[in-house]
Amino acid sequence: MKINTAEFVISNSEVDKCPKDRLPEYAFIGRSNVGKSSLINMLTNHKNLAKTSSKPGKTQLINHFKINNNWFLVDLPGYGYARVSKKTKAVFQQFIMDYFEQREQLVCAFVLIDIRLEAQKIDLEFMEYLGESEIPFAIIFTKSDKLGKNKVNNHVEAYKKQLLAGDWAEMPPYFVTSSLEAKGKEGILEYIGQINED
Ligand code: GTP
Ligand code: MG
Repeated sequence: MKINTAEFVISNSEVDKCPKDRLPEYAFIGRSNVGKSSLINMLTNHKNLAKTSSKPGKTQLINHFKINNNWFLVDLPGYGYARVSKKTKAVFQQFIMDYFEQREQLVCAFVLIDIRLEAQKIDLEFMEYLGESEIPFAIIFTKSDKLGKNKVNNHVEAYKKQLLAGDWAEMPPYFVTSSLEAKGKEGILEYIGQINED
């Protein structure tokens, strides 16, 4: 699938204010700074469609981007960012949870994982939550340019092992990406294209 048009529609912190069109949508979630906004820019061939920063906590709202006038990409705030106050964090998490619990148009969540790191508790817990909530998800490993090719494979294998040693019977669909090198784009877009056609 090709992305021909990508336009910003709305940012907000309330699920009720998200677009009312019943178009399918795909949300990007993961720890702060993992590369969610950068990945959206890479997928859409836009430098600054989604705002990025080297400092964690850049995206603070639910951001809808309409693609090909036909479906949405959704950029979400990161979880696990310790520097916001406890109160802000609680609100953050509540509206992210509201989004996942109430947004019926959500057809698939992409959970972003920094390929350099071992499986983190917060990511595992979030995937468990998605599983329990019966929300389909896929994993996107980010920042693969930071590791050599052999290491990329080793880290993916190690991650698989960690997941399978836990509650998961099989590895979810996954993609290895680098927004810096525009790597992994086709796989993700094909995956979305197939779901949209079903
Ligand atoms: P929050 O909005 O704060 O939750 O962060 P985010 O997950 O949206 O991350 P963002 O896209 O803003 O990127 C965070 C930092 O990682 C920025 O400095 C990016 O340039 C960098 N980054 C993102 N993707 C990649 C990548 O593929 N390779 C490298 N080397 N750096 C990346
Ligand atoms: Mg962001």
